[in-house]
Amino acid sequence: SKVGAKLVIGNWKMHGGLRGNEVLLQKLANGTRAMPPGLRIGLCVPYPYLAQAQAMLGASRIEWGAQDLSAHDEGAYTGEVSAPMVADFGARYAIVGHSERREYHREGAILVAEKAERALAAGLTPIVCVGETQEEREFAFTERVLCAQLDAVLDRLTVEQAAGLVLAYEPVWAIGSGSSANCEEVQDVHAFLRHHLARKGDAVARIPILYGGSVKPENALSLFSVPEVDGGLVGGASLDATQFLEICDAAA
Ligand code: G3P
Repeated sequence: SKVGAKLVIGNWKMHGGLRGNEVLLQKLANGTRAMPPGLRIGLCVPYPYLAQAQAMLGASRIEWGAQDLSAHDEGAYTGEVSAPMVADFGARYAIVGHSERREYHREGAILVAEKAERALAAGLTPIVCVGETQEEREFAFTERVLCAQLDAVLDRLTVEQAAGLVLAYEPVWAIGSGSSANCEEVQDVHAFLRHHLARKGDAVARIPILYGGSVKPENALSLFSVPEVDGGLVGGASLDATQFLEICDAAA
């Protein structure tokens, strides 16, 4: 019911600087060289560093991407960055609907769906993030929240488009908290999401579902052993070469 090889994506969030990135990217390019070819690795960097990622990762087995996109391809949208612009830098991925965008920038489900569509149209793979807050979980709203977030995207796309997505389950309460959801919680939600995806057909049911939220070297192996987990979306630990390489190793 799922893809065999794992996918590990680092999300730098709003961290980095040209000098420090150079060291980190070099270590990651070198450190991943001998890893099994089936393992897919990506880094979603701040827009200004896409060119640096392209220059430094172009000859490596690591792919790169952005952390957001505009819902428009061009025009009078001051401060926005479009999917074709991101694709111009050789990017493969774009995160859309990260909980930090939904919360701090009031991004709604429809806007997230539009962004996923723009990403696909530009040849990028959207990594669509869904996740419930602590409060929503306590009130047993988890499944309802996830369905609403996911259906807005699925309803906007054809089956062929939807089959090109990556889905990331990021429980908001686990992000940056230092402790991930436990394996049973992750399996339950991923199985639910997989089942829900299947309503759009077999090809869509097979898209990778990543787990995100305090993935660390200490918990990566057990999280990646959860049957329905196809990989990880890694925040804080992706800023440290040793930690990120250990996480990639755990997925190999
Ligand atoms: O997108 C990754 C993310 O939100 C998880 O962050 O720092 O908990 O790994 P972190």
